[in-house]
Amino acid sequence: MKRLYGVIGSPIAHSMSPLIHNDAFLQNGVDAHYHAFHVEPDQLKQAVAGMRALGIDGFNVTIPHKEAIIPLLDSVEDAAIQIGAVNTVVNKNGKLIGYNTDGRGFVEALKEVAELKGKHVLIIGAGGAARAIFYTLALEEGIQLDICNRTVSKAEDLIKEFSLERIARSITVDQAASEMQSYDVVVQTTSVGMFPKVNDIPLPLKPIKQHAVFSDIIYNPLETRLLREAKALGAITQNGIHMFAYQAALAFEIWTGKFPDTDRMKKLVKEHLGGKTC
Ligand code: ATR
Repeated sequence: MKRLYGVIGSPIAHSMSPLIHNDAFLQNGVDAHYHAFHVEPDQLKQAVAGMRALGIDGFNVTIPHKEAIIPLLDSVEDAAIQIGAVNTVVNKNGKLIGYNTDGRGFVEALKEVAELKGKHVLIIGAGGAARAIFYTLALEEGIQLDICNRTVSKAEDLIKEFSLERIARSITVDQAASEMQSYDVVVQTTSVGMFPKVNDIPLPLKPIKQHAVFSDIIYNPLETRLLREAKALGAITQNGIHMFAYQAALAFEIWTGKFPDTDRMKKLVKEHLGGKTC
């Protein structure tokens, strides 16, 4: 019987997950279909019960359900518990098991362009996305992490909560800007620069370290002002398509045991978004 997968969220109409997962099923010879389901917060409980009743094989979870779904599942992997969010669920013999592939997806993508061992990394932002990324980056050997956020107390709380004071500091946005030249890698996790406010930038860049890597989780636009300016200053840059592809690939692997072609996923997303910069 054809296997069934999907994504639940709101809004969901513009999700690119069906595009890349259905293509990956075809490419990997998996007889399955992936569908986007619009689910409002007050319907989440019923939606999960429906997934169980229909025997859906697995699904992704996106905004605004990543946290609220946790108590509705049968078990949740430790990393997702720590991060406090689930983006992938697998149905194993009727038991719904939750995972988080956002943090790992980001770090796997980043490793394509940056060495992380012993590096000095700046994370801009301290929201949900930053949380998954911070937790996962902190597992890298010898890494030193600074988190700057408009609301500094949120960065402070994040570090305290994970007891990562030994390797992480919370700093103001101004401080991060003044120390910009010390960072090997800069990770942008806020919505600053996202369509339609494409002229916004979270902090001034000049000057940056030679050979620095800048990664922005935004993919609309494909090149944020931050990435454009960093590139002009000589940085290696990476947009949000890379994280998006890797988090999807890791979910696909959890469901099927096969790791799909992430370059193909990125290409599909890029074509879909009609862009030239990747
Ligand atoms: P997500 O789950 O996408 O990370 P979030 O949890 O709402 O979303 O976090 C949004 C992040 O973007 C936060 O770091 C937020 O800063 P605050 O904690 O100070 O709110 C940041 N952010 C959003 N709009 C911003 C803006 N206009 N200027 C600076 N930071 C902004």
